Amino acid sequence: MSSAADSLSVPDAVGSSPVIGMIWAQTEAGVIGRDGGIPWHVPEDMAHFKATTTGHPVVMGRRTWESFPEKFRPLPDRTNIVISGSEPSAFPGAVVVGSLEAAIEAAGASPGAEEIWIIGGGQVYADAMALANAALVTVIESAEDGDTMAPSLDVDWALAALTPETGWLESSGGSRYRISLWTRRP
Ligand SMILES: NC(=O)c1ccc[n+]([C@@H]2O[C@H](COP(=O)([O-])OP(=O)(O)OC[C@H]3O[C@@H](n4cnc5c(N)ncnc54)[C@H](OP(=O)(O)O)[C@@H]3O)[C@@H](O)[C@H]2O)c1
Repeated sequence: MSSAADSLSVPDAVGSSPVIGMIWAQTEAGVIGRDGGIPWHVPEDMAHFKATTTGHPVVMGRRTWESFPEKFRPLPDRTNIVISGSEPSAFPGAVVVGSLEAAIEAAGASPGAEEIWIIGGGQVYADAMALANAALVTVIESAEDGDTMAPSLDVDWALAALTPETGWLESSGGSRYRISLWTRRP
């Protein structure tokens, strides 16, 4: 599958190190989650997520960690950093911290720290808007309702790449989708 990350590398687009990227998938209305999960199935987006984040630290909130089936967590070949006020023993295989700032510090000391990926959910993206320099956003052509929303990328953000440049990609899961790479304006 080709993606925005293939046509333009995220480090090149950001132009400074480290990349502190947020990665998410949303509907056109901005829904990212419902009832503790994601209300669509787009295997190509899961492959894109894996290809982008493998080898780099990933930062997530407690509810996003809990959204992964136990057998899939921690996400392999990535330092998993979970933000939570809960007991660290509740997150086997993860580094547990109490704030986003502590998560970024732990990520900076992890293998592959030239790219740090913030993987959700809504609460963590909202906090991370102030310190991230990239957002890799998959838009799913879907009218699903949800209870968790993506943050708004305001005038501080510029579109760096869009795949495809017009229209949509077709998922084997039946949905159409496109991938956009946004960078924070200098
Ligand atoms: N579509 C996508 O790409 C995508 C990606 C990721 C997640 N999601 C979806 O998003 C939903 C989960 O998002 P969410 O907003 O409900 O939860 P979340 O951001 O994943 O986790 C929230 C929890 O993280 C901890 N936390 C977050 N920020 C903190 C801070 N600054 N300081 C201390 N603790 C902090 C707290 O844990 P404690 O309560 O333990 O203290 C808080 O309750 C799910 O439906 C999931 O499937 C979608």
